[in-house]
Amino acid sequence: MEKYYVTTPIYYVNDEPHLGHIYTTIAADVLARHQRLSGRDVFFLTGVDEHGQKVQQAAEARGIAPIELADQVVERYRDLWPELEITHNDFIRTSSGRHKKGVQAMWRRLEQAGAIYKDFYEDWYCVPCESYWTETQLKDAGCWDDKHCPDCRRVVEKVQEESYFFRLSDYQDRLIEHIRTHPDFIAPASRRNEVLSFVEGGLNDLSVSRTTFSWGVPVPGDEGHVVYVWIDALTNYLSAIGFPDQGVPDYWPADVHLIGKDILRFHTVYWPCMLMAADLPLPKRVFAHGWWTVEGEKMSKSKGNALRPADLLKDYDADVIRYFLLREVPFGQDGDFSFEALKQRYNTELANDVGNLLNRSLAMLNKYRDGVLGAVGDEREIDRALIADVQGMQQDVAEALERQAFHIALERINGVVRHGNRYVEENAPWALARSGDDARLDTVLYHLIETLRLVAVQLLPFMPEKMARMLEQIHAADVDVAAMRLADVGGWGLLKAGHRCRKPSPVFPRMD
Ligand code: MSP
Repeated sequence: MEKYYVTTPIYYVNDEPHLGHIYTTIAADVLARHQRLSGRDVFFLTGVDEHGQKVQQAAEARGIAPIELADQVVERYRDLWPELEITHNDFIRTSSGRHKKGVQAMWRRLEQAGAIYKDFYEDWYCVPCESYWTETQLKDAGCWDDKHCPDCRRVVEKVQEESYFFRLSDYQDRLIEHIRTHPDFIAPASRRNEVLSFVEGGLNDLSVSRTTFSWGVPVPGDEGHVVYVWIDALTNYLSAIGFPDQGVPDYWPADVHLIGKDILRFHTVYWPCMLMAADLPLPKRVFAHGWWTVEGEKMSKSKGNALRPADLLKDYDADVIRYFLLREVPFGQDGDFSFEALKQRYNTELANDVGNLLNRSLAMLNKYRDGVLGAVGDEREIDRALIADVQGMQQDVAEALERQAFHIALERINGVVRHGNRYVEENAPWALARSGDDARLDTVLYHLIETLRLVAVQLLPFMPEKMARMLEQIHAADVDVAAMRLADVGGWGLLKAGHRCRKPSPVFPRMD
């Protein structure tokens, strides 16, 4: 069976889950479900990033050990994912034995390849705060000109720290070549160009160990150093699937790493260069999505305005949240989240379009035909056009999802739903019932129900619970969505004459 490996970033445990975290995870889940439905052997990985100075400091601030903080926050993620119907195959913690072993094996491979050397690293130190700052941190905080501490505003001093370095600069040309010859490696295209010009601007070697804190994976053979958190974190994509025990694990290389745009450089520069040095295949694709603002504002810890999953799940079903996040904003672009937009989209696209087509079709089938499908009579042009649209949808959705174009996939499916509603108007089944044209009435109702069934199958990865309920009304039987395969249910004409559907029961009631 063809394999498919999809990952999310591993989330830092110094913050509780928010909209940004659920976004990537939902997107990855839709891809995983879609690929399983298409018959592929899927491995979907998510997890948490536990090491590093930030986590150590957050734990110290609470007077607990880093592992205690991690243990607490991990539970928040573990509890959340089932609520959002996330079907990950594994959950990796970077504090786990299997992961540490993977990181140390990766380190040794880099060392053996001659890609690591020891030197000095310059840092900025604030004596009163006892905190270390990098040049970038000072620049980002606007504290670079007079070199003061972003926290207490006092002057920081330059210190030298012994550090291991990774020969990133050695891989510059190979990376440029790889990006050029693999146009699908970095998406969207704007991000690819951004990375390419960054790499062409020249790469510096990368400091990959720290001695200023201890919460991390010890450098093999030099325990005073811990491995830089990004080298540690990126290796999760391998350690979770059996590296180093399996050599190159079965699921490697990943089909797609889904990430946010802020961590693009780590995934498209550091990670591929590390893999080249370690003589391992590169991931096939890295897709960087955009960032959400909430009601027009940037989410921030200091403002305390981060949108938490519980705020959403209080009033909206997980399926509706899943649908909205992937429909509202083209994947790859930034967007704004608002409850008004969510309600509006729900009412127009889900309640009015999908819900209405389901309710009216099943209602008419029950009213005129006691819920039973009749034989299909002569097909007219109008029927063939509907079938062609439905059949084209399957291919188009698959192609869109192969490029992570969720919004295009959904728009394509919605187009079929609107076509279905037009088909009802144009064929006016109520008039056929009145005039006693039973053969034509049966044909029209059959086309509607079959269209609905295939729409539900395509929407299943996006809204698994709602679509299961829709399919149960159509099939008049419980549906095991996890076991469903396109090869069995994806073709037009599965339902036969004599099949009885259920009475409609609203899946998307209107919201006021
Ligand atoms: N631990 C690293 C990732 C290591 S992967 C080997 C990390 N963690 S994070 O918890 O800070 O962020 C995880 C993801 O959340 C990132 O992909 C980031 O882009 C995403 N988001 C954080 N805020 C976001 C929004 N406001 N909108 C969309 N996604 C955002 O980085």
